[in-house]
Amino acid sequence: MARSAPILADSTLRLHDLEPSSEEFRRAAVAGLSASPKTLPCKFFYDAEGSRLFDAICELPEYYPTRTELAILRRNAGAMAEAIGPEARIVEFGSGAGIKIRLLLEALERPAAYVPVDISREHMMAAAAGLAADFPRLRIAPVCADYTQPFGLPSIRGVTSRATVGFFPGSTIGNFTPTEAVAFLARARRLLGPGSMMLVGVDVPKDPHILEAAYDDAAGVTAAFNRNLLVRMQRELGARLDLDGFRHEARWCAERRRVEMHLVSLARQEIVIGPARFPLARGETIHTENSYKYAVPEFRALAGRSGWLPAEVWTDPDNLFSVHLLRSG
Ligand code: AVI
Repeated sequence: MARSAPILADSTLRLHDLEPSSEEFRRAAVAGLSASPKTLPCKFFYDAEGSRLFDAICELPEYYPTRTELAILRRNAGAMAEAIGPEARIVEFGSGAGIKIRLLLEALERPAAYVPVDISREHMMAAAAGLAADFPRLRIAPVCADYTQPFGLPSIRGVTSRATVGFFPGSTIGNFTPTEAVAFLARARRLLGPGSMMLVGVDVPKDPHILEAAYDDAAGVTAAFNRNLLVRMQRELGARLDLDGFRHEARWCAERRRVEMHLVSLARQEIVIGPARFPLARGETIHTENSYKYAVPEFRALAGRSGWLPAEVWTDPDNLFSVHLLRSG
């Protein structure tokens, strides 16, 4: 059950805590492993260890999205800030390590407030504390919540803003199906309110070898990130399973324009969670993540279906990645 009582984290950062519980993870794992083909929702990657592994992925030579998007932000933060205008309240969906938001905050004129929303409480609070030290005049109101579910924005006493801007970098929009992405963007539009804007990072289709290497790196960090779901099931759900009985796989699915991640069973085996037993055949997979890629016109059309008006788009010279500004109209 989600907790809704605000927790005072320290004197400057008031945390609004709606973190999903282990019970929610148990329900999702049982439902996903009962399905055919078997699945586990990718949002459960991000416990403390998963968030640490994801930060390591972002540094990998094969994982081009992070450095490419950072370069786009560095080169165009001034233009983005101009399009957004002064005294904006920024709501970041999935706050991560906080590097990208810094570039935006540094460029913005007198940003009014920053509301990071993330499922991984410790990780978010550490990043928010770092930002609070570097931007002493900025009001920061972290929300620990699953932003794929409805939630409310905290009211921040004494802060008036001219516009509310959603910030959704990293191509996390690609982890939704297109239908879910439209629904998420429509919900975000309602949450952010009239006159709002949204900046969204979107990965674009490219050579499948580049894509598959980005999701199956030589150092095995993405494999550990994927396997961490099994580790979590053992630790949090008391699941009985063979950690070494699975291998990581990343495949580009050209038809659906997405990279899929799977845990492939190396033998006939069972995962046991409480009284429930989930048999797996040798070679059977648990589908753990989709990462959809959109060409610029495809994403503009998708954003339009959710009620946003697509505005400026910034890309890198090799057209590996794109950052879209959407206006609520
Ligand atoms: C968070 N998200 C955008 C990442 C992606 O590229 O889909 C998650 C990830 N999975 C494996 N590597 C990175």
